[in-house]
Amino acid sequence: MILELSKYSLRDYFIRGFQECRTQTLELLDSLDEETFCCQAHPDFSPVGWHLGHIAYTESLWLLERGAKQACMFPQYRKLYAADGLPKSERVKLPSIEETRNYLNLVREKVIDYLKVVDIEPQEKLCRFLLQHESQHCETACIVLSLISTPLHLPPSPLPVNPSPDMIKIPAGEFEMGSNSPNALDNERAAHKVYLDTYFIDRYPITSGKYREFIEFGGYEKAQYWSDAGWKWLQLEQVKHPKYWSNDGAYDNHPVMGVSYYEAEAYANFVGKRLPTEAEWEKAARWDERANHSRTYPWGEQEPTQEFCNCSTSLSISQTAPVNAYPNGQSAYGMYDALGNVWEWTNSWFDAYQGFEYYPYIGYSQVYFDGEHKVLKGSSWATRPMAMRASFRNWYYPHVRQIFAGFRCASD
Ligand code: AVJ
Ligand code: FE
Repeated sequence: MILELSKYSLRDYFIRGFQECRTQTLELLDSLDEETFCCQAHPDFSPVGWHLGHIAYTESLWLLERGAKQACMFPQYRKLYAADGLPKSERVKLPSIEETRNYLNLVREKVIDYLKVVDIEPQEKLCRFLLQHESQHCETACIVLSLISTPLHLPPSPLPVNPSPDMIKIPAGEFEMGSNSPNALDNERAAHKVYLDTYFIDRYPITSGKYREFIEFGGYEKAQYWSDAGWKWLQLEQVKHPKYWSNDGAYDNHPVMGVSYYEAEAYANFVGKRLPTEAEWEKAARWDERANHSRTYPWGEQEPTQEFCNCSTSLSISQTAPVNAYPNGQSAYGMYDALGNVWEWTNSWFDAYQGFEYYPYIGYSQVYFDGEHKVLKGSSWATRPMAMRASFRNWYYPHVRQIFAGFRCASD
């Protein structure tokens, strides 16, 4: 986006943005049957149909009811689609695909009408939130679909040479963490300086090939690599490899995907390293020492495209790519794949930065500052460019492995 937008072009930018975002969202419905639409693939995840209804509900609540002071068009959906409405297990009796599509369309028509006339600047933060909210729920819907049918559906991309498993030295010093940009969500605020001692971080995410060494060494049977909580989790789950796993060597150069925090932690112990802190990950991904500033994206200020990273656009490949496939996406320190491909576990608990103020509601971030959620950084092949930046913070319980997450290691 151009730095200085006139009032007119900001309005235009949002109207176009909402439309483009929705086109991609509706692609999820192509060739979906009613059963899949309502299927709860895992107790931690709501059905695809719920995510779509919740997108319309959220947009209606914040722009039409709270913003335009319009009456709620579909009060009967309030309980079903509110984030704090029904427990996940009760979100399976849903309106049909046709009814949901109708709901999305009717709300969206009113939203566009409103955006055409409203004083747009005071709505900027909300519009940016809603675009990212829709994008995030689409990634979750994509996860649910992956749980229903096998995710590695396309032939693996051609395999570049195996990247050397080297680490980057990040010199001691301050960097700027978080962001005050209009796109930044509440949990990214406020930007602040953080000092870190010298450390090392992997240039690439851990590949399937590297992870296989851990499996074949018997890593899933050896308690010594696991934390107490991790070993307890493993005894309960009895898993033997990542959730999304192929023994096909053709994926050896792709990042490992579908590991819980505990599996990532165990692998790091196996190789005598550790997981990075959130700050360590972010500094390596966006600090430009020479310019003395933090970049929005690892490569600079240009918006994410397939030129820089494996992200989700209408035309994208919809699976992981080799970790060294995007040299143009390197950070100033030479870290690859910070954005796109897979989310990366850090060993930091999700917590508020100094100056945090919830937006637009407590339940977006604040209720998760509970010392039970680990931060994931980066983004995945299923993340839309709209919701990608180096300051972005994702969070899940450490046991969750259904998401498109991998990791890289660090050391002192
Ligand atoms: C940031 C992906 C953890 O889906 O739980 C969507 C995003 N919050 N609506 C989630 C979110 C409210 C959130 N994650
Ligand atoms: Fe939501």
